[in-house]
Amino acid sequence: MSALFSRDRAAKEQGRLPDGLPPAERLPKHVAIVMDGNGRWAKKRHLPRSAGHRAGVEALRDIIRASDDWGIGHLSIYAFSTENWGRPQDEVSALMQLLLQYFSSEIDELDEKGVRIRILGDVDGLPAPQREAVQNAMARTRDNRGLHLNIALNYGGRAELLNAARSLMRQAAEGALRPEELTADRFAAELYTAGQPDVDLFIRTSGEIRTSNFLPWQTAYAEMVFNETLWPDYTREAYRQDLWTYARRDRRFGKVK
Ligand code: FPP
Repeated sequence: MSALFSRDRAAKEQGRLPDGLPPAERLPKHVAIVMDGNGRWAKKRHLPRSAGHRAGVEALRDIIRASDDWGIGHLSIYAFSTENWGRPQDEVSALMQLLLQYFSSEIDELDEKGVRIRILGDVDGLPAPQREAVQNAMARTRDNRGLHLNIALNYGGRAELLNAARSLMRQAAEGALRPEELTADRFAAELYTAGQPDVDLFIRTSGEIRTSNFLPWQTAYAEMVFNETLWPDYTREAYRQDLWTYARRDRRFGKVK
């Protein structure tokens, strides 16, 4: 039994969570989160869905701060999928507005903390003000060395894979790539997350148990944690618990231990 498990065995037997965080070597290097449940959170309070998204931004702020405090290297959050354009126009507008507000109100703190922002998704397909805001945020934080914050915006996992395949086919057509030279690393270098580690821990809130086209390549060996909490109610403490759930998992990557 590893040191971790002997250390927290008593806590586990008593059904309580150990204090503090799992040891650093048991923390995920890359966490991906589907922040689901904003609409249901608002509905329960007889509020418009946009109020749920606003509350979702508050929860996000805490989780980014916690990730930074706890030395999580990479955090990927699903903010807006390519399918989300199909939501009612007022909700899409509210989300786009929230995005602008987010970058203007948060960028100073994020930059001060050394957070490096990368957008995963089709930035060119965003309306001009949002496109400029995210491009400025990426440019401003490019040389930072702290938490890598990936914000998936206008993102679709299959589209990401197709873009990668197209780029590789172009390279092949130009004679710059032979089929036997195509490795997993070379493929991964074509993705929005190029140069970053695979996702270790995938979290989805609100009780939905599916991945919804979020980072299909990068999550191939991720540990999945689905919890019932609606995203606006997801706290640093809930996150800490999910990190313990991850730390106690036995990852084998298809091998035998
Ligand atoms: C899913 O909840 C959430 C979204 C589609 C948007 C997530 C966005 C935020 C948390 C805020 C915006 C982010 C940034 C970076 C400014 P849902 O609306 O599908 O909830 P439901 O399933 O309960 O209806």
